[in-house]
Amino acid sequence: MNKEIKTDLTIEQKVESLLSQMTLDEKIGQMTQVRHFDDITIADIKTKFIGSIIHTPGPTPGTDAAEWQAKFVQLQWLALSTRLGIPMFFGVDAVHGQNTYAGATIFPHNIGLGAARNSKLVESAAAITALEARATGFNWVFSPCVAIPYNEKWGRVYEAFSESTEITTELTKASVRGHQGGLDQQVSLIATAKHFIGDGSTDFGVEGGNTTLSQEEVMERLLPPYRAAIEAGVGSVMASFNSLNGVPMHAYRAMITDVLKGSLKFEGIVVSDWKAYSRFGGTDVINAGVDVVMAVEGDFNMYVEGVRNGVLNGVISQERIDDAVRRILRQKFRIGLFDNPFPDLRLISKIGIQAHRDVARQAVRESLVLLKNENNVLPLKKDAKIALVGEFGNNSGLQSGGWTVNWQGMTENYAGATTILEGLRKFSSQDVLYDADGSADYDSVDVAVIVVGETPYAEFMGDIGGVMNKYQLTLTPEHQMLVDKYTAKGIKTVVVLISGRPLVVTKQLEQVDAFVAAWFPGSEGEGIAEVLFGDYDFKGKLPHSWPKSEEDYQGKYGPNFWDRTIEPLFPLGFGLSYQKGI
Ligand code: GLC
Repeated sequence: MNKEIKTDLTIEQKVESLLSQMTLDEKIGQMTQVRHFDDITIADIKTKFIGSIIHTPGPTPGTDAAEWQAKFVQLQWLALSTRLGIPMFFGVDAVHGQNTYAGATIFPHNIGLGAARNSKLVESAAAITALEARATGFNWVFSPCVAIPYNEKWGRVYEAFSESTEITTELTKASVRGHQGGLDQQVSLIATAKHFIGDGSTDFGVEGGNTTLSQEEVMERLLPPYRAAIEAGVGSVMASFNSLNGVPMHAYRAMITDVLKGSLKFEGIVVSDWKAYSRFGGTDVINAGVDVVMAVEGDFNMYVEGVRNGVLNGVISQERIDDAVRRILRQKFRIGLFDNPFPDLRLISKIGIQAHRDVARQAVRESLVLLKNENNVLPLKKDAKIALVGEFGNNSGLQSGGWTVNWQGMTENYAGATTILEGLRKFSSQDVLYDADGSADYDSVDVAVIVVGETPYAEFMGDIGGVMNKYQLTLTPEHQMLVDKYTAKGIKTVVVLISGRPLVVTKQLEQVDAFVAAWFPGSEGEGIAEVLFGDYDFKGKLPHSWPKSEEDYQGKYGPNFWDRTIEPLFPLGFGLSYQKGI
């Protein structure tokens, strides 16, 4: 008999046996996810039977991985000291490596992996991320984001793979397999497909806005990545902040219970997004089918009491609670949490090792998309006199985007990372000059590599025209000045764009000899230098249609695969290379 079938039967029996012993308070505790540093007292973990902890960038559990693990072991012992001793999940937004931990391997954000479109590479990156997440004490990652972005004004385009459903579906499957292992392997951490559903397809790209696609369009364009994730055995799905045709997704029973859990037969955990209970109708969130709630930022007591009273008053059925707890216990048994509730100290030595960084550097190389290369500027000659222009070329924080060490990313170098300048200097036989802000004004170089783009951002902070309105579809005036200054010198110029999305760079493309879209490459900036010098060819292809002007965004969406009425400057799939001639 197939071991897996025997194990499943055992898991289901264990789940039913444990569920039958649980009190209402113990069940609600399993459905509660809190932060380890502010929403609860340590004693609450025991007295409220907390089922999972979320670590978000902020006060870290310790200064190194051993201290992170020790903190989580201390919290786990509290959970194990309860009547039934049900161990906790520890969850983290490891969305491009274990990015809350300085020193971890940081991969290109998913938009770069979408440009590389290499499933094996995505699977390897996810496996490394899972290992480094486990090494820092986690067994649940809130990744991958499987959104289908329709409008580059959205502040989270870079968290998704592509505007193409096909590419997204293919890479979602690889990502879940990488994080969790194949269906025939022991799972030691669960991944999360997010955000269900329509997060990237809101009108005008507003984070948490309203998605107005028809049911057919949702089923045809947005659902396939979730189907693939479920087929790959994903342990959880996160509900989305957006509304779908006016109904908040967190309260959308027909989509969460009927479609996701019913038609798609999802047997894992539906987890809410941040502070969803108070934001989306309290008990409606539970009745819609959400199983675990991020009861954070003041929601904790309101949530626990609200669900308890909801059940006692018949607003929430006992069956709904049991369905939620069954799913939670199933995943905990599945990853062997009862047998081994503690992290493995032996994994700590694997964090950020060269073998991991080599995979990340390959991902950087394969993510680069060559949009222009004239006058044989690229590949750079190793004996050429080069000026690297712009601080983005010498700052690992600026090259990594949001969700890097901090929620909103870093604007300075961080542990273990290499920059583009370091890469150029490593491979060049000359002294590569560095002009951080255009003031050095180097005239006698053969070529200027000008690195410009977007400072890091996360979530609504990156919405263009949104609440913060810090970002724009075109280059900043400071970056335009760098391009103007060096193109005016009559020397050859290459622009490397560091961004979380396609930007309107039609003018700059005309000004310069070569142009590379590098997305948010993460810790291995050297990978960019390897391709600029021609040690590797360009392989990346655009995972998004590329806009020609800001007018492309007058409607609800930008130029995208689904809407042929807006002609892009470059189509989805465009990308030049050295081999094919330029
Ligand atoms: C955030 C994000 C979600 C993340 C969660 C926990 O608001 O929407 O992607 O996993 O909260 O940090």
